[in-house]
Amino acid sequence: MKKLLAATLAITALHAFADDAALIAETKKTALTIPPKLLTMVQEEIDNGSYHGAIAACSEKAPKMAAAASQNTGWAIRRVSLKNRNPKAVPDAWEKATLEEFDKRLAAGENGMMLEKSEIVADGDKRTLRYMKALPTQKLCLNCHGTEAQIAPEAKDKLKTLYPNDLATGYSEGQIRGALTVKRPL
Ligand code: HEC
Repeated sequence: MKKLLAATLAITALHAFADDAALIAETKKTALTIPPKLLTMVQEEIDNGSYHGAIAACSEKAPKMAAAASQNTGWAIRRVSLKNRNPKAVPDAWEKATLEEFDKRLAAGENGMMLEKSEIVADGDKRTLRYMKALPTQKLCLNCHGTEAQIAPEAKDKLKTLYPNDLATGYSEGQIRGALTVKRPL
């Protein structure tokens, strides 16, 4: 009897684990469509010589894409950073700890492009799936997140006007600029 109970519990745990893995996979699949779309839009604007267009893609289209994805799914999807440009892009405690962990894992030699973390967090009887994907600084990003010398004057003026409390400059290639973050109520 005891053995049967143990086996049943083990199978139940295994099922729960498989369910959680499927939920995480589904969350990633949806969320990860956003960064490449944004990257293409920003790259196109910069290739056309339009820093203002590229900034608008980041300041208007990026939040809109995240808001639309949030509305379609009922999850909260946004971008955050330890050194945020948008005053609202401040990480919560879980996100802050994860961003710090990403920096440590990067320093320990992990590939920044592959850094991600998922966890199912329980608060009373409420369960929330948390997922974060690191967004490393690539060469393109330096146009707006690099050193003073790397940011074009035209972009600098616009950024100063839009974000007087901007913390998101001075990055170098490879550093973690921030992350895409998903909070999915289960
Ligand atoms: C053309 C300028 C420009 C380029 C190039 C650019 N960004 Fe940004 N970035 C912005 C602006 C403007 C914001 C603020 C958006 C907002 O208001 O939500 C921003 C915000 C962000 C945020 C959200 C957190 C925060 O600080 O507000 C992340 C993460 C981010 N950028 C990562 C990147 C990465 C990674 C790249 C390169 C792949 C990149 N950016 C390239 C202009 C740019």
